[in-house]
Amino acid sequence: MAERPEQEIPEQEIEVLLDEQRAYPPPEDFRRQAWIQNESIYREAAADPEGFWAAQAERLEWSRRWDRVLDWKPPFARWFVGGKLNASVNCLDRHLANGRGDRPAILWEGEPGDRKTLTYADLHREVCRLTNVLRGLGVGKGDRVAIYLPMVPELPVAMLACARIGAPHSVVFAGFSAQSLRDRINDAEAKVLITADGGHRRGGIVPLKAISDEALENTPSITGVVMVRRTGEDVPMVAGRDHDWAELMEGAADTAEPEEMDAEDVLYILYTSGTTGKPKGIVHTTGGYLTQVTATARAVFDLKDSDVWWAAADIGWVTGHSYIVYGPLALGVTQVMYEGAPDTPNRARLWSIVERYRVTCFYTAPTAIRAFMKWGTEHPAAHDLGSLRLLGTVGEPINPEAWVWYHREIGGGRCPVVDTWWQTETGSIMATALPGVTTLKPGSATHAFPGIALEILDRRGERVEVGGGLLAITKPWPSMLRGIWGDEERFRETYWSQWKDIYFPADGAHRDEDGYFWVMGRVDDVLNVSGHRLGAAEVESALVEHEAVAEAAVVGRPHEIKGEGIAAFVVLRESASSRDGLAAELKAHVARAIGPIARPDDIVFAADVPKTRSGKIMRRLLRDIAAGKAIGDTTTLADPAVVQKLREEYGDED
Ligand code: WTA
Repeated sequence: MAERPEQEIPEQEIEVLLDEQRAYPPPEDFRRQAWIQNESIYREAAADPEGFWAAQAERLEWSRRWDRVLDWKPPFARWFVGGKLNASVNCLDRHLANGRGDRPAILWEGEPGDRKTLTYADLHREVCRLTNVLRGLGVGKGDRVAIYLPMVPELPVAMLACARIGAPHSVVFAGFSAQSLRDRINDAEAKVLITADGGHRRGGIVPLKAISDEALENTPSITGVVMVRRTGEDVPMVAGRDHDWAELMEGAADTAEPEEMDAEDVLYILYTSGTTGKPKGIVHTTGGYLTQVTATARAVFDLKDSDVWWAAADIGWVTGHSYIVYGPLALGVTQVMYEGAPDTPNRARLWSIVERYRVTCFYTAPTAIRAFMKWGTEHPAAHDLGSLRLLGTVGEPINPEAWVWYHREIGGGRCPVVDTWWQTETGSIMATALPGVTTLKPGSATHAFPGIALEILDRRGERVEVGGGLLAITKPWPSMLRGIWGDEERFRETYWSQWKDIYFPADGAHRDEDGYFWVMGRVDDVLNVSGHRLGAAEVESALVEHEAVAEAAVVGRPHEIKGEGIAAFVVLRESASSRDGLAAELKAHVARAIGPIARPDDIVFAADVPKTRSGKIMRRLLRDIAAGKAIGDTTTLADPAVVQKLREEYGDED
């Protein structure tokens, strides 16, 4: 059995959360119009989970029906065995066939204020053209395509074209560095890269093509690059490799045959951080994934034809894959997509968008809500938010104060707030309220989604009915990851070695007397910075790449807005000449190496990194120091005597 870090759920936080007595029953007018109005769905799904999921799968269009709902040979699941379908057909063609081609699919707004509307027919045409373009570049079923784009309509077009061909896409968040992009391209052995000249961010330009060129210096699998012109900057093009998106699209036909995909064919790979320096390529397949994202988008966000949906997330993360691209488009929903930052040109930007497009259902992360709180109520108050009827959050635990603020200041006290717990690996929402059914408790993700077997177990696998422990998913679910790209051993070890045949999400949680789940956060060395996952080891390996650094240990520490900030304990090489300006340089170095999200908040120079006798970094000690709990002045860690004393006080952790 693998060795696991000690489970550490801060007791104080649990107490604060559990003191939370406020409860919000579903508003009667919401309940009456909701897709799901009755708790019986939980009982029905529990009595026959496979039947429940089969009924959800019926909402999709299959070119061949499945023979069997589930084949489970732990840790490998196959859902809708024998079924055939294509994800792009489900997101596009069938809406056109149903006379819904003129419905707006994407109401897009660029950061500089330019706007574009794409109907489902427009989206279908663009996707078909790009399908032809990619096929012309030699992309066929099974080939991987890397996508490194800002939040422009070409991004969902590119993903859906890949889906149409059956070429798994690997979207790389446009905030990642050249090195991060290169590692992901090489791990997936992508054949083509789709990128842009640049993207608009906070009034500036992110030079995506220049970053791509640097990444592509050492990516032998890449044979072609397709570049969207977004900013119009003059960028060098490599003859024979680089192509202009618009030029290729101009000559491409408007229709393209979709590939018939097996339910278990790979739809995409999405890289996420783990406990080692190397990100994991999480693999999702077609039938089960599409079934669960569609079922959850419908049931949790209650999406109807009259709605305007907005997931204010980036498609570079799983939230955008599932709840901007595949779920909402499969449902034929109208949605807003925004390119830029929430405070550009001012802090009311998001609320001006809600007002302009009459957004009805809005999904964001707690970190954003805490920033809105800090910015002040005058920004949302300056706009008419009366169109909103439902709010959601995802990505990290939400503190009740932020929840209540969101409910009151953004939702006007009338909108249910659904707190949705899930992961890149789970593909779709796993724990959540159902807005027409569930009485909400601020800070709690409430209950497992119908058909999902979520429990709290202790380390040995004993069930915890009331109290704290580890989240566990005890039965397979349709949108579960099917593996880590190219690394079966790591897949087994990471997720399936804690207990037998039970999925280990590496989150700590608590269950109250009413059976509500309170998710507390990661129990491994993965940080959650502004709702984004980052491996401590990734930041450590970036730091030790710097010539002045001998050793580094990275831990999270509480951060008012980001939830978790990054504290780096750094041991310098003797040759390092001076510390002047070095902290700033190291922060910039990490931002360059991984991406700006990984920039450390604190650099603490230390005489050595405290380790146990068996050589494990004493992270609990470092966390306490970083949070200011262990010693007041953290710089004293530079004194070997202090380190020794702390080590004695904390004792060996293993
Ligand atoms: C955390 C994001 C508490 C959790 C969809 C999980 C949450 C990790 C919540 C996955 C929530 C996500 N409450 N914690 N509602 N949602 N998390 O892969 O620690 O980027 O394991 O997927 O975020 O992050 P990921």
